[in-house]
Amino acid sequence: MTKQAAPTVIDFDHEDSNTSNNPTFDSVLQARLSRRNILRGSIGTAMTAAFGGLSLTACGGGSDDGPANPVQDAVQETLLSFGAVAKTLADTVTVPAGYTATVVLATGDRLFSDVAEYKDDGTNNRYDRRSGDCHDGMEYFGLSATGAPDANSSDRCLLGMNHEYITPLFLHANGPTAGASRVASEVDIEVDAHGVAIAEFKKTGGKFGLVVDSTFNRRITGLSTIEISGPARGNAKLKTKFSTTGTQTRGTLNNCGTGKTPWGTLLTGEENWAGYFYRASGDAANRTTVLGNQANVALTRYGRGEGASRYNWETAGSEDKYARWNMTLDTTKAADGTEDYRFEINGQGYITEIDPYNATSTIKKRTALGRVAHESAAFSNPVVGKPLAVYMGDDSRGEYVYKFVSAANWVAADANPADRVATGDKYLDSGKLYVAKFNSDGTGNWVELSLNNDTVKNYATYVFADEGDVAIHTRLAADAVGATKMDRPEWCGTHPTTGEVYFTMTNNSNRRVSPSGSQQGIDAANPRAYTDIKGVSSSQQGNVNGHIVRIKETGGEPGATTFNWDVYLFGAESAASPSFVNLSSLTDDQDFSSPDGLVFSKSTGICWIQTDDGAYTDVTNCMMLAGIPGTVGDGADVTLNYGAASVTTKMGKKPTESTLKRFLVGPSQCEITGLAESPDGKVLFINVQHPGEDTSSLANPATYGSHWPGNSGYGAGGNVARPRSATVMITKNDGGRIGS
Ligand code: FEO
Ligand code: CA
Ligand code: CA
Ligand code: CA
Repeated sequence: MTKQAAPTVIDFDHEDSNTSNNPTFDSVLQARLSRRNILRGSIGTAMTAAFGGLSLTACGGGSDDGPANPVQDAVQETLLSFGAVAKTLADTVTVPAGYTATVVLATGDRLFSDVAEYKDDGTNNRYDRRSGDCHDGMEYFGLSATGAPDANSSDRCLLGMNHEYITPLFLHANGPTAGASRVASEVDIEVDAHGVAIAEFKKTGGKFGLVVDSTFNRRITGLSTIEISGPARGNAKLKTKFSTTGTQTRGTLNNCGTGKTPWGTLLTGEENWAGYFYRASGDAANRTTVLGNQANVALTRYGRGEGASRYNWETAGSEDKYARWNMTLDTTKAADGTEDYRFEINGQGYITEIDPYNATSTIKKRTALGRVAHESAAFSNPVVGKPLAVYMGDDSRGEYVYKFVSAANWVAADANPADRVATGDKYLDSGKLYVAKFNSDGTGNWVELSLNNDTVKNYATYVFADEGDVAIHTRLAADAVGATKMDRPEWCGTHPTTGEVYFTMTNNSNRRVSPSGSQQGIDAANPRAYTDIKGVSSSQQGNVNGHIVRIKETGGEPGATTFNWDVYLFGAESAASPSFVNLSSLTDDQDFSSPDGLVFSKSTGICWIQTDDGAYTDVTNCMMLAGIPGTVGDGADVTLNYGAASVTTKMGKKPTESTLKRFLVGPSQCEITGLAESPDGKVLFINVQHPGEDTSSLANPATYGSHWPGNSGYGAGGNVARPRSATVMITKNDGGRIGS
């Protein structure tokens, strides 16, 4: 979601809870760079053709490393030969000439025929049987003609997608009913419109369409029962009235980025969940009395002070499904928390795993991967006999970049296991969690977060009770070791051949040359702080447009504890100062702001970059670009001299018109997010989130911020339709791969 403006009263999407005094830089390490290829394989020549003529030195993974890499079958073609899409404020999806964009699933569309068709009047209910709202991260799971898991199928699939949050105005006939208490039936719709959808799509005539009533179709909502797995399972800080053993919770909330495991399951990241829980005035004092002040330290670090909840769901009635949203400690109840919901908030904030191929499979929160404002989860390219690394970002201002390394080594047969949930237990419940330190010389360190690390164990600010506590309060452990405060880490993605990992830093309104209070000072990996003018005179400060950092693990090892980094791209307006802002020299066909979604195509190797912007939106709607990046270290040092201070950063090679180009611009007030592709690379699905979200009233349809996709002929409403989030299928008219 767009998060550019400074908070006014309570901002449920921003947190400035990182008040740790972590040093910006650490002592320079002796980096041990290895120049050897990261992955083994023997298709280097084919890769060069497939990657548009770039001279990549690494090779693709062999078939024994996991699912077959379709890039091996790629024909000679020139990537990025499409005409760049111009920046636009048009209320439509714009793609290059020769491409077609088709809506395939919008908010409220039914997944099951036992509920009424979507109507354009806010009267639908039962969102547990329909597409949820605010489509976000998305993954593709192939199905064979007979309905068996088939990673190579480009004709039939399941899309697993997140429904991050809601635009309440459009979900009800007249918007949310005003009053001190929420209407229960409206809250039911809103809770159900959150979560995750699994939906089957089948290709006929070259185009995918939704299969209503597929036995695979599934909705996981804000109320679904989910198992706690990993080190925090059964922890004292997870006990609730619902789960007195601390082994279950309900719902997955504010699901933002996704990941796809090498064994064919969906990972969903729970992002801005803290605001969903009501915390009454006086709760901090009561917690101090009953639990000790450490309980408040923990909540404060996750941005949950006393105050109202985001949607006031706790006011809808005394039923348990509403009462659970009130996390206020009841001093008359059991001290261990088993009679109220004082610890309910600790059930959110994880990477949650769903087996899409079984609509009744057990869903698990993988607590070993830490509890933060999760975005995507990107795996290292699997290598037989080596552990798997999972890369993750924590999206708030000044938060950190993380890596989980599995205890188990990858086994080829696990690419198509009999029991995918048990395979998740194997790789995601045991391992080590690390946080990143980016050093000024272009090296970096992964620092372990566990009680095995004395710095964590002896942290003065917060005393961890056990390893489960470290998993639940990851941010505090990362503070303890002095991790590098980043410009809001959003998605990450692993390059399919080099194995280098790219992290979007979407923007940071708190980055300053001379910081004060909760602001962060410039450093080598977050070197920009500047002023940008939006519209006529609105001024924006900090790292307004964001950047993309990438890392190369030492020796290409997933378990490496050192890496090298540089900045792949700096977001900027093309007309901005080249010496401070437009460092990557982006042209009119390439300029962008606030990178968020980032996914590498396994077919073409294209780095798809999606934006969630509020800074450049006076000129253009949010967009998606296609990049063909090089490698860490292919650029040069750049020094930014601000007068009051200077900083030298490691910048990647500047893009050319052959290596970066705008591919798509979305409708008004949307964010472009989520990307899933068919293995043959010929169909790309993307999500358009929250078009028209700035609409303030339903009274006059002419004043809606967007009418998409009704105005493009999808669903009811036409040119005065209520706007809807939607999944868009992109195809090339000549049948070629997307991005060629
Ligand atoms: Fe849901 Fe950080 O974007
Ligand atoms: Ca975002
Ligand atoms: Ca501007
Ligand atoms: Ca995001």
